[in-house]
Amino acid sequence: MRNVTFGKPIIGDEERSAVLEVLNGSQLVHGPRAKQFESDFSAYVGGGHAMSVASCTAGLHLAYVHLGIGPGDEVLVPAQTHVATAHSVEYTGAKPVFVDVDATTGNIDLDQAAAAITPNTKAICIVHYLGLPVDMDRVNAIARKHDLFVVEDCALAIGGRFKGVHAGLHGDVGAFSFYPVKHITTAEGGMFLTRHAKIAERVTRLKAFGYDKALGERVVPGLYDVDILGYNYRMNEIEAAIGIEQLKRVDGFLQKRAENDRALRQAIADIDEVTPLAAGGGDFEHAHYCLVAILDQSIAGKRYEIINGLRELGVGTSVYYPGPVPHLTYYRDKYDLGRVPFPNAEKISHRSIALSVAPHLDQEDMKYVGETLKRVLGAIK
Ligand SMILES: Cc1ncc(COP(=O)(O)O)c(C=O)c1O
Repeated sequence: MRNVTFGKPIIGDEERSAVLEVLNGSQLVHGPRAKQFESDFSAYVGGGHAMSVASCTAGLHLAYVHLGIGPGDEVLVPAQTHVATAHSVEYTGAKPVFVDVDATTGNIDLDQAAAAITPNTKAICIVHYLGLPVDMDRVNAIARKHDLFVVEDCALAIGGRFKGVHAGLHGDVGAFSFYPVKHITTAEGGMFLTRHAKIAERVTRLKAFGYDKALGERVVPGLYDVDILGYNYRMNEIEAAIGIEQLKRVDGFLQKRAENDRALRQAIADIDEVTPLAAGGGDFEHAHYCLVAILDQSIAGKRYEIINGLRELGVGTSVYYPGPVPHLTYYRDKYDLGRVPFPNAEKISHRSIALSVAPHLDQEDMKYVGETLKRVLGAIK
């Protein structure tokens, strides 16, 4: 029996020796590796100012701190996403306003987003859902019309491009995640990206306590002033050293993901009860985080049985994501959202199974997943 695990970081000798080199030296933070990772990252995506941060969540939070939003302000966010998309707004005291998503892509429904704008709306955060880019021309047109700041949650979108331009370079800021099972990893970590030099300058200080002088700029060691409320959101040298090596391999990882995605779509194409979310293509270059298969209504009630059946035959799965964020207890209770419907987010959350296309797997694994899914579906009918 094959063992098709859902996610597995790919760490090689290069990463291991890069980490050892940091540990054998004397600089664990404030060092050259974070700087190099940042310049390598902006070269890879093709522009912008990149700033390494402790996580994607930290990057998103910094975007709102920079904006100066707080109580009384609203930020539009998709209902179908990781809770971090909403939490980063909530940390500031502003209110995340949830918008349903498109049922075929999982991306925010931009008609509904435009309709949800009020005089208090300060920003729109879009998520490139599982790596499929949002139509950023439309997002920017809405933002221009209503004077909104555009935040791109690119947690799963390294390699995703809209009209040839990398995710994170369309809006005002973008934030990426390097959590272990993401496209590349630094264990924990993220990257804040912006096209605007002014935002970069300020966020560089906001992510490091609000120091007016970085370590190397201090005339007398230990002397600095602080004139803004900053955070401790830096990335350390160990993480950055891993990131530098991972970034060298990202194109290979992405190619494998694209091949696996194609093979898996082919392997499940003749299963009538299962429909994958959109494949991307054309202007929408997908980063293929995973393949989310929506179960037909007739078998949706058997989701856990199917997941268990797959697991027993060696196929690991996941769910992206466990519920529309407005229906998770914290948001449901705080904003009384329990009875507010988000039909498409609910469909994706409650009727789907996420199948891996990650680069530790190959096309034979994809065939096996397709055959196993057929076998499990045949058995539960
Ligand atoms: C869409 C999205 N945004 C944000 C995050 C948070 O990323 P991090 O763990 O780097 O803070 C995740 C994590 O999975 C995510 O999927």
